[in-house]
Amino acid sequence: MRIEVVTLFPDFIAEAVRYGVLGRAIERGRVAVAASSPREFARDVHRTVDDRPYGGGPGMVLKAEPACAALRAARARLPAGSPAIYLAADGEPLTQAKAAELARCPGLLLLAGRYEGVDERVLETEIDECVSIGDYVLSGGELAALVLIDATVRLLPGVLGDEESARQDSFVAGLLDWPHYTRPEVFEGRAVPQVLLGGNHAAIARWREKQALGRTWQRRPDLLAKLELSAAQRELLEEYIAEHRAGDASQSD
Ligand code: ADE
Repeated sequence: MRIEVVTLFPDFIAEAVRYGVLGRAIERGRVAVAASSPREFARDVHRTVDDRPYGGGPGMVLKAEPACAALRAARARLPAGSPAIYLAADGEPLTQAKAAELARCPGLLLLAGRYEGVDERVLETEIDECVSIGDYVLSGGELAALVLIDATVRLLPGVLGDEESARQDSFVAGLLDWPHYTRPEVFEGRAVPQVLLGGNHAAIARWREKQALGRTWQRRPDLLAKLELSAAQRELLEEYIAEHRAGDASQSD
């Protein structure tokens, strides 16, 4: 996969993708990430990329000519069938399903906005879709572009090891992750749950699924509402809820 990011801060993108899973995926040639700036395409002596909004109001708007020129140059480096995505708070939400859809594309063209926004004509002519990473406003689309890149690239074949891929499947199944522990067995008086120490794999799997169901119930009831739980899962969740209520009661004694 090839990813092109058009941004006023290309160095920020280039630096951020060097780390961790993403950095390794780049080193191994599974993905190439390039960043370029509309400033390279600004024709005036000051290399102006923004201007005041027509109609007045605060803030500046990214100008159409340099942004379009940068997007077209980046598009020419991408394979056909690579969608152009504008990162913006008013876009379609980024979900695991959306990341999986993007991971099937041969390339991605990402536009990270700054200031108050981008001249609407850029979006009309160059952009296929608008994506948001959550209901909050960032000062620019760069962090959002990096989030989208990370969530997408980790789904490309051969990027994650088998174990990590399998764990990811558990989120794809619509549940939050279970808790994790490593040595020491007791840390500041807090012991690792006994079941994890015993080597009974069936019991461990059952405990993990119960924790995943319980956490989803506690933190993301919206996710749980979308699932068709099996009878076994319902039983596990009931057990978790009963234990949770018993825990609360003992704390208030
Ligand atoms: N740009 C500013 N806020 C954003 C958000 N929440 N998601 C994507 N891009 C953004």
